[in-house]
Amino acid sequence: MSTHIDAKQGDIAEVVLLPGDPLRAKFIAENFLANVTQYNTVRNMFGYTGTYQGVRVSVQGSGMGIPSLSIYATELIQDFGVKKIIRVGTAGGLLPELEIGDVLLAEGASTDSNVLQATFGQAISFAPLASFELLCQAHQSAKQLDIPVRVGNIFAADRFYNDEIDNHKLAQYGVMAVEMESAGLFLIGAKYHVQTLSILTVSDNLVTQKYADAKMRETAFQDMMRLALATAVV
Ligand code: HPA
Repeated sequence: MSTHIDAKQGDIAEVVLLPGDPLRAKFIAENFLANVTQYNTVRNMFGYTGTYQGVRVSVQGSGMGIPSLSIYATELIQDFGVKKIIRVGTAGGLLPELEIGDVLLAEGASTDSNVLQATFGQAISFAPLASFELLCQAHQSAKQLDIPVRVGNIFAADRFYNDEIDNHKLAQYGVMAVEMESAGLFLIGAKYHVQTLSILTVSDNLVTQKYADAKMRETAFQDMMRLALATAVV
């Protein structure tokens, strides 16, 4: 076991889906995986392993924000030998044309988090990028599943509530949406040489002020989950 994950060696698959919400981890395990076992309940940050199309896959809650995600991603890699991590999460659209339910593939993640400076110092602005291999695979799987996706930069904010971030400027530079984790995930992927990707569903749009209702959330999120699982098992 590790500090935050109460699993034994071999309990966790080499590829892990990482939703922020542990109840979404439960939902994925119960609705998409076969032969499911639960390996973690510590802090209610549920983790499950099962099979999808015959391939072993785990799904682990990460919590919100880079600090929480970083704990789970690091322990999955260092203590359980995980090789691929695919975040499945929600994001707030920054581009007016993004509709609730649109699926985004994060090619890179800009951030106001201090983790980059803490790692590289002031002189270098490291660019946290998704794994090109996973990104290509997800793009190809999206075509096969007929799920439209948009690929590009996203913003991983340290604060859900803030008055300082210029969302309009980010949008002018093509940043598609804001969430709170991907820059930390890609940084950890780079550090440990494992493949990382974020697949995001637009749950709200900060420009149009639209929000997902319960029904939309359910169906739209299922597209993202099917895409993430298809990408995971290749
Ligand atoms: N901001 C930050 N994170 C988010 C948002 C948002 O508007 N929507 C979903 N995750």
